[in-house]
Parts: sequence; C-alpha cells; structure tokens
Amino acid sequence: MNIDILLGLQWGDEGKGKIVDAISPGYDIVARFQGGPNAGHSLEFNNVKHVLHLIPSGIFHPEKINIIGNGVVIDPAVFKKEIENLGPGIGELVRRLVISARANLILPGHRILDAAYEHSKGCTKIGSTLKGIGPAYTDKVARNGLRAGEILKPDFRKMYDEHLKNHLAILKNYDFKFDLKEYEAGWFEGIEVLKKFRIINTEYLIHELTSGGKKMLAEGAQGTMLDVDFGSYPFVTSSNTISAGACTGLGVSPKMIGEVFGIFKAYCTRVGSGPFPTELNDDTGARLRDTGHEFGSTTGRPRRCGWLDLPALKYAIMINGVTQLFMTKSDVLSGFEKIKVCTSYRTEGKECREIHFDNTPVEPVYTLLPGWNENISGIRKYEMLPENLRHYIRFIEDQTGIPVTLVSVGPDREETIIRKSLENHLPHGKP
Ligand code: GDP
Ligand code: IMO
Ligand code: MG
Repeated sequence: MNIDILLGLQWGDEGKGKIVDAISPGYDIVARFQGGPNAGHSLEFNNVKHVLHLIPSGIFHPEKINIIGNGVVIDPAVFKKEIENLGPGIGELVRRLVISARANLILPGHRILDAAYEHSKGCTKIGSTLKGIGPAYTDKVARNGLRAGEILKPDFRKMYDEHLKNHLAILKNYDFKFDLKEYEAGWFEGIEVLKKFRIINTEYLIHELTSGGKKMLAEGAQGTMLDVDFGSYPFVTSSNTISAGACTGLGVSPKMIGEVFGIFKAYCTRVGSGPFPTELNDDTGARLRDTGHEFGSTTGRPRRCGWLDLPALKYAIMINGVTQLFMTKSDVLSGFEKIKVCTSYRTEGKECREIHFDNTPVEPVYTLLPGWNENISGIRKYEMLPENLRHYIRFIEDQTGIPVTLVSVGPDREETIIRKSLENHLPHGKP
C-alpha cells in the first residue's frame, strides 16, 4: 500500500496545493488524477507564491517524479504557459514530469463550447471556469476524445481537424460569437511543448515504481462537493474528484491505497453557482473573504464564504473513506469571539443530516464555540495553539470520528503543524 491520496472535502480551494507541496518530501512521486486547468493550486515558499493548474504540486521538489494521470484533461496552451512560468527550464522539467498517453486533450472547440453552453443557460449557469472541462469530458465518455498519445502520430492534424469540424457543427446551434484562430495558434504551440515530454502509459511506470517500494501521493483537484456523482449536481465539475477517482485516474488498484488524507478549511468557501447551506451574505462572510483572501486562483472571482458545514464534511469523509483530516486556514478564524459550526440541517421543519440528491433547500443548525484572539501563524507545535482552537479541533474530531493530524496556520510551506500521528506515518518521516 504505497499510495496515499490527498483530496478536498468541500467545494475546492481547501489548500491542496500548499499541503501537497509541504508533505511531498515524504514521497517519491506526486500524481494528479482528475480535473484540468479549472484547478488553481497555490503554494508558497521563500516569499514567492506559485499557482499550478495542470502540473502536480510536487514539482518544486527537484528529486520527485510528477505525473499527469490519464484522468486529467490537458489544455496544451495552458500547459505551455505553466511550464514557462515555473522557472527551472524545460530541460529540467522534462526529467521530472511525465504525462499519460491516455489523458484526453482539451481542444480549442471545447473551450468555445463551454462558453456557449454557459451563455445559453442564463441565470441557471453553473459558473464554470470556462476552461473547456465539461465538453472535454463529454467527448471522452462519448468516445470522441483526442488523447495526449495521439499528438506523436503523423496524422494528428487530420484528427484535430475532424474534431474541430464536429465542434463547429454543434456551435451552429448556438447564438454565440467566438474567435478561434488566436487560441488555436497558442494551442498548437502548446502541442510542440507537450511533445518534448515523456508521454507514456504511466500506469506501468506507477506500478513498477510503487511495487518496487517507491511511495506515491495522488493529488486531487476540485473537492468532493463538486464530484460529478456525489456533489451538488448539476452545479459540479465533470470528473470524479473522490478517492475512487484516483484509481480510475491513475490506473491503480484500490488494494494499493493506504491513507486517504481529507483536506478542509476551518470554514467553507464556494466559487460558482449552487447550494451552499452555511453561506454568509453579511459582514462575517465579507470578513472571512478579506482575511482569508478568498478570491479564485484560476478566475479571480470572489469566493462565497460561510461557516464549517459538518453534515457535508461527514458525507465527504464517508464517500472517500478518509483516514486522516488536514485542517487549513485556521489562522483566518483568529479574532472571532464566537465561531459557529453547522451540525445538522432543518428542512420543512424537520431535522435532516443527509445531503439530498436534488439539492433540497436546507437551513443550517449551528453550535456555537468560543473563539480565540491570538495570531497563530508563527506557531509550529500543536500544544502551543490556543486552547479554544484545540477545542474546536477536538469538536470536529468527536463529530467526525477522524483525527485531525495536520493543521495549517498560513499559506507558506513552513506554516504547517504536523502532529505526531502523521509524522510517524509519512513514508520518509517529517518533511
Ligand atoms: P487548492 O485549490 O485546494 O490548492 O487551494 P487554492 O490554492 O485555490 O486556495 C487556497 C488559498 O489559501 C491559497 O491562496 C493558499 O495560498 C492559501 N492557504 C493555504 N493554506 C492556508 C492557511 O493555512 N492559511 C492561510 N491564511 N492561507 C492558506
Ligand atoms: P481547485 O482544484 C473551486 C467549480 C467552478 C464551477 C464548477 C464547474 O482549485 O480546488 P468547471 O470549470 O469544472 O466546469 O466548473 O466547479 N470549480 C472549482 N471551484 N476550485 C476548483 O479547483 C474548481 N474547479 C471547478 O467554479 O462552479
Ligand atoms: Mg484552487
């Protein structure tokens, strides 16, 4: 069981990038298993902030192998930009980064279709990041996709033209203006960059390395509440963001999975449309947004903010089989006199603890906990955290039955408290 999974338990942006980067020293391989450039994973070290969209968050550790798995959808234009922004130079990155030949490509037509579909939905729009995710996964499951491995074939351009023809035919049904040419040019430049990388059957590489004792961390994108099956459908993304997605998105057996690290913010945020029971459209919500800098890493949109939602968190823990909880953004709650936690919902006058398939409107029922005033960003030992924050964490542990083994107290790699139980587990010890 040399594979652990780290994934988001809320609506995305839980701090996956920061934590994957922080615990990467404990692993040999970091692999993304789903999603695409809709993801924005931020991480900080040496006072510089980096935002990754397609590339796994282990990339800043020179000795690690990073894999973009078959479950990911790749936009070559975004990939090129990201590679150029990374710093180490393509020669070095080619050594560290491997791409699955089975990963589907996001074609320029997918981006336009995404925008056309959203435009046609009017006020029922999903709030997509408009990166072409939905249409690319649609073509994948409809068996019309174009995969990364194809770019190495001599008739790739012909295949591309066929796909484009299909997309343009669909677009005729929409009253939507678009300019394909400029994006297409950047997309083909991206194809040339992609070609420099190893595009292989990564499932064999993963199997060979992990059965030889190497340790892999599978990095989720989005969050459980955005999963296409278990999220607040239709206000979801188009892939399986849950732990099972790591198996299908990397080609690994469930028997190979060890720990499932579930990451959550000490409160909740959501970007885009859809239900959000604990949302605060008031000064408290604005305070969480300002203090937590809650603006989308991919689109810059203000994130909707609210209190921690335990029924949703418990649901996510159940679906994913979470074994350890990681709590981020604890520092953002400093200074609140009282902190509310939603422990159940009420609907039509009755108590309800389940997440309903049809997004039935619910009212949150809150428990009030005492807050703390201390600035905690400089703290590195769990025991040094304010008593009321430890009480908050104990409350979450009692409610969920899962230990919180990592507490993040700031955006920097170093602003991370790892409790003994996790330290003992990490394959190569403390990061
Ligand atoms: P991801 O998509 O899950 O990787 O999360 P994002 O990077 O989109 O959003 C998380 C944001 O919170 C980023 O700006 C991080 O730099 C920041 N962040 C992560 N952990 C912490 C933390 O513990 N405290 C604070 N204040 N910021 C954090
Ligand atoms: P990370 O990995 C937060 C949301 C969008 C929209 C819905 C569908 O950074 O946590 P899509 O572009 O997938 O068709 O959008 O999902 N969404 C995210 N929200 N974080 C993300 O990624 C997201 N990726 C997609 O806002 O509501
Ligand atoms: Mg994000």
